[in-house]
Amino acid sequence: MKKGRQGSLAVFPGSFDPITNGHLDIVDRALAVFDRVRMAILLNPEKQPLFSVDERLALIREAWRGNPRVEADTFSGLLVDYADRVGASVIIRGIRAISDFEYELQMALMNRRLDPQIETVFMIPAESYSYVSSRLVKEVFQLGGRVSDLVPPVVEKRLREKYGAPVRAGRARRKA
Ligand code: PNS
Repeated sequence: MKKGRQGSLAVFPGSFDPITNGHLDIVDRALAVFDRVRMAILLNPEKQPLFSVDERLALIREAWRGNPRVEADTFSGLLVDYADRVGASVIIRGIRAISDFEYELQMALMNRRLDPQIETVFMIPAESYSYVSSRLVKEVFQLGGRVSDLVPPVVEKRLREKYGAPVRAGRARRKA
């Protein structure tokens, strides 16, 4: 593992549209192993994100405010080239369920073929986040469901600004 003056650096790439508590949980786990974690947002002109790249960067920075070991950045092109450029020899990815595994394995093996110096490390989030995805969070919020345990408060606030307050928010309901 490359160890520079500033210690080990792991890149955690993704779309992060928006970040969820599952992503934060993965970063927490990565911080137990690496000195710094850089959340790197893919600039993907083919996707129509809900949050702009600048908004997503701001959400990551806000969620980790006060923790200098977590950084936010963007990248385009090959992930391994980005990792190499910033001096990271580890890529972090989260695996929530077996269904994630096939896609993640393909990516990890392709990245290894592209650059054998860079290792992919899979981390497993807390079980309570095993069903949480950015896509579902957006869908549930948009349809009036509660997402407050699934995303950091700043994300919920920004969702409210985009979509308005969830319609079902006031209803009393059983705890899951
Ligand atoms: O959060 P996502 O959308 O599952 O993240 C996917 C991501 C950004 C990790 C992946 O699409 C990626 O690394 N893209 C960069 C392009 C690249 O390097 N492709 C070849 C390796 S598979």
